[in-house]
Amino acid sequence: MLVGPEGLELREDVWLGVSLVGPNVRYPDHRHLPEETYLVMSPGDFRQGRNEWVHVANGETFYNPKSIVHAMRSSDRPLLVFWALKE
Ligand SMILES: [Fe+2]
Repeated sequence: MLVGPEGLELREDVWLGVSLVGPNVRYPDHRHLPEETYLVMSPGDFRQGRNEWVHVANGETFYNPKSIVHAMRSSDRPLLVFWALKE
């Protein structure tokens, strides 16, 4: 987390951060009140609830509405994503 409640800049209204997920790793299902947009810097798969996994390519975004259960997973290469959450 770069900006947010545990970030380098402490604030509550906007959270910004980056995740690097190693190859063949499934980041667990989670949920949070703020809506979230991922900016995908290397290809990966994203899922909401029990829906099918969605493949997201370099430079594309993936949006999660407030409080929805969601997850992501890498392929045989690392997954790098920036994320932004807004209350
Ligand atoms: Fe999330």
